[in-house]
Amino acid sequence: METKIWKKTELAEAAKVLKKGQLVAFPTETVYGLGADALNEKAVSKVYTAKGRPSDNPLIVHVAHPQAVQNYAQVSPRAQKLMDAFWPGPLTIILPVKPGQLSEKVTGGLQTVASRMPDNALTRELIDQVGSPLVGPSANTSGKPSPTIATHVYHDLHGKIAGVVDDGATQIGVESTVLDLSTSQAAILRPGKITASQLETVLGENVDTSEHHVAADEAPKAPGMKYRHYAPDKAVYMVKDEDWTQAIIWAQSQLEPVGLMLSDQMIEQHQLAGMDFVWPLGPNGVSAATKLFSGLRNFDDQKDVKIILVAEMSHEAANAAYNNRLAKAAGQQYFDAQEMMEF
Ligand code: TXA
Ligand code: MG
Repeated sequence: METKIWKKTELAEAAKVLKKGQLVAFPTETVYGLGADALNEKAVSKVYTAKGRPSDNPLIVHVAHPQAVQNYAQVSPRAQKLMDAFWPGPLTIILPVKPGQLSEKVTGGLQTVASRMPDNALTRELIDQVGSPLVGPSANTSGKPSPTIATHVYHDLHGKIAGVVDDGATQIGVESTVLDLSTSQAAILRPGKITASQLETVLGENVDTSEHHVAADEAPKAPGMKYRHYAPDKAVYMVKDEDWTQAIIWAQSQLEPVGLMLSDQMIEQHQLAGMDFVWPLGPNGVSAATKLFSGLRNFDDQKDVKIILVAEMSHEAANAAYNNRLAKAAGQQYFDAQEMMEF
């Protein structure tokens, strides 16, 4: 299959292909999604094949209007409050599914369904033109960093999908906050741009942020979170602020180049500006989130780079999404000078 890259002006073409049950990747404010008609079971099945995604990992249903959620989920007053406050935007809300309204291919066989209204006018127009909500997992090969530009999608999925609607780089760079509202205790299953305290302010109730709020013997709440994620083929290590001096000395002593991803301040402090194999993350965790996945992909594509060192950001709420994705990409491993000397 030849995979097309469509410009904004070619949206009708993309809608036509989706209506026929084929796959089209679409832009959002977080990352690119892999779209299929959520009401066409055969189309939804193709998403799992194209991504190589485990079939028990449910999909997010993307809508163009909040009212569309009523068709397939039970929208509680507290869910409505959050939709009013944060939609369109990077918040996915999990609610009880209305029986018989969605394929098990969408819900992964759960009694709940995840919904989100993306803050991208082009994609909302696409959903309107198709006339059905679209499922939309991140448009990467399962386990790889999520795509923040159309070229990333093409790299992973060309030949497997009909096309991608190109709307430039996404603004946020990491996926939406996933909030479980299907039980009485609201819980964040995946951190994102919208923080727990923002949600608490609107809800007027406490939001669990432990990401482990189910007993160990129960099924994980967000099935996707149990898999290794966002990981390039290369070895990735997190680096704490205080370890960068040693990390740079170590990197510069290696025969093969080591990829370094760090803040502008660290680049200046260690006089690395303009050097090869340095990927600037900008001034803070928010800018870093926009550059994390593209940086990992950049070094993944450079054959001689075998190891990537990436800055952890300070532990504050605004950096939670960045640190969460980085920790997953690094398999929780930190750079440790002592250990690395023996590498
Ligand atoms: O920003 C985003 O959310 C992007 C863009 C494209 O919208 N989409 C995205 O989808 O990140 P995906 O499939 O890569 O991640 C969805 C996460 C997975 O961890 C999945 O297990 C979880 O949400 N999820 C989906 N439905 C669920 C449900 N009913 N209950 C619990 N977790 C669910
Ligand atoms: Mg994903």
